[in-house]
Amino acid sequence: MASATAGSDAAPTQSDRDDVARRLLHSSEALSYDPAQEVDWETPLDTSYHGASPEWSTLYGTSYWAEMTPEQQRELTRQEAASVASTGIWFEMILQQMMLRDFYAKDPTEPAFQWALTEIADECRHSIMFARGAAKLRAPAYRPRRLVIELGRVFKTLAFGEAAYAAILVAEEVLDVMQRDWMRDERVVPFVRTINNIHVVEESRHMKFAREETRTRLAGSSRLRRQINALVIAIVSYVIVTSMVHKKVYANAGLDPERATREAKGNEHHKSLLRSSCSGLMEFLGSAGLLTKTSMWFYKRANLL
Ligand SMILES: [Fe+2]
Ligand SMILES: [Fe+2]
Repeated sequence: MASATAGSDAAPTQSDRDDVARRLLHSSEALSYDPAQEVDWETPLDTSYHGASPEWSTLYGTSYWAEMTPEQQRELTRQEAASVASTGIWFEMILQQMMLRDFYAKDPTEPAFQWALTEIADECRHSIMFARGAAKLRAPAYRPRRLVIELGRVFKTLAFGEAAYAAILVAEEVLDVMQRDWMRDERVVPFVRTINNIHVVEESRHMKFAREETRTRLAGSSRLRRQINALVIAIVSYVIVTSMVHKKVYANAGLDPERATREAKGNEHHKSLLRSSCSGLMEFLGSAGLLTKTSMWFYKRANLL
């Protein structure tokens, strides 16, 4: 289930913004986790479990999947889950830097300022948690392709306003829809379910903030600015979604990488799962005026629309 809500089109006022940030701060005080304590890091990996819900595997539903042994299927979903976590770390580093830049020298007495630092602290814990989780799944470092790393470097240095916050929202929503399924799934290894549960709880506050900021920053922006940023956000979304599962997961799961990559590319089941899971997110982007003709081309290519 997607958690984005379209909400009202009216731009939030300063006092709305303060209220939201204050509520988020209270909520974070009431319910936050320390993964070092909460996650079972001690128990050795039990390979009778999946790393993710099999239905979310990039090969689920293909003829290759049907030929795989249950052991291979589980190894594949474990490598895929580790890859998603690694991509999560990459994007969390981008978003921490964007938020730090955004709040540089702003008024520290404002709730939004304090919330931003709280969110950055959450992300810092998350990235350490994902790193430990991927290592426990016996996965190597899955980093994005060279070009994507360099594009990310430019984006995190230059992006501001609605482009930064809508990109944050997309990355968080896409991760969220998967993790909501995995955290409830008894076929998934328990420590991964705990990681997903922690992430889903803490990210729901981040997504609320990202939606508010996107609407605030868009208010009163010119048509041209909206058109440009809609396109930038769509390209970033395309890059994030297509970087989620690294090609090397197939070889690491003992599969033929060429056949696996080919069948994953044509996997209609996976495409329609992504589309249906992200319908709430697309509704939000539409209500914010960010689904322009050119941006929709990228969302369709990323199987988000
Ligand atoms: Fe996070
Ligand atoms: Fe987040």
